Amino acid sequence: MEASATSKLLVSDIASSVDHVPSNYVRPISDRPNLSIETSGDSIPMIDLQELHGPNRADVIYQVAHACASYGFFQIKNHGVPEKTIERMMTVAREFFRQPESERVKHYSADTKKTTRLSTSFNVGSEKVSNWREFLRLHCLPIEDFISEWPSSPVSFREVTAEYATSVRALVLVLLEEISESVGLAKDSDCKASNTLGKHSQHMALNYYPPCPQADLTFGLPGHKDPNLISALLQDEVSGLQVFKDGKWIAVHPVPNTFIVNVGDQMQVISNDKYKSVLHRAVVNSDKERISIPTFYCPSLDAVVGPQQELINEEEESHAAYRSFTYAEYYEKFWDRALATESCIDLFKASKI
Ligand code: OGA
Ligand code: NI
Repeated sequence: MEASATSKLLVSDIASSVDHVPSNYVRPISDRPNLSIETSGDSIPMIDLQELHGPNRADVIYQVAHACASYGFFQIKNHGVPEKTIERMMTVAREFFRQPESERVKHYSADTKKTTRLSTSFNVGSEKVSNWREFLRLHCLPIEDFISEWPSSPVSFREVTAEYATSVRALVLVLLEEISESVGLAKDSDCKASNTLGKHSQHMALNYYPPCPQADLTFGLPGHKDPNLISALLQDEVSGLQVFKDGKWIAVHPVPNTFIVNVGDQMQVISNDKYKSVLHRAVVNSDKERISIPTFYCPSLDAVVGPQQELINEEEESHAAYRSFTYAEYYEKFWDRALATESCIDLFKASKI
């Protein structure tokens, strides 16, 4: 039974036919999830974006600065993405993964350069231990360049996803303004984050974590830092995300109609280490499937990224912590490394003179 099950390509199809995890998913004892993290401890700040346009704007910017510097993560409410858009996106994602393997597998590819692809784990080409995750990755900016590659089943997939991606992009552009302002990049300067990204790119993942018979032995996604600029994650009502803070993992439990925003490696570089891209991971559970939908906003591949001059000269002592590079170079290194816990960003540190 198990032999035939493990020969299947996608974890969701394995999940439905095994009562223990195949050995290639089992983590070494020193690297297993803690599934019972206290909820009473530290939590990720929740920022109300409603206040952004009123008299309390400065306070919101201050909250963003504090969250980005101390956690690398925050949650947002009153973010402007309509509830209906969110609901439709979650529903179509669930419908996509509930289709038979024969339908989903049409999109399967292990080639990390493909702009639309279904895959499993993280990077099947380079990792040693597999992860309990199936995902569909899409490029979505500009939408018209990619929409014809997206799945056409379920029938509403393209329309719903396009509407969602457009709405989330508008939110991300607002967030980039706030984050730039909060870190000390003048609002109208060429230095603010959105002006350093070339033509801009936007990717999405639809992550599907099937129920797992031995959730204490494996991860949905092991600890990693996002390589892009900022990420905005939508999660369903099942917990699973954990964020590393002060030597401990904090669980981020779902709050309806909110997004979880995090600083990615490129924001750490642009901010010259003022803001940190932090480790996070996804655990699975034994009785519920979980869906999460991150949007990864990033520079276009030809954009040259480096610490912003304004943040280097601010104090006499400060120097550029990273060399400049193209995002293409960074992105290639990221996928080659198979989510090693050491940061990809360390490979781009400026050499000491
Ligand atoms: C990711 C990620 C977390 C989650 O896809 O990069 O961190 O909760 N996902 O699925
Ligand atoms: Ni991530």
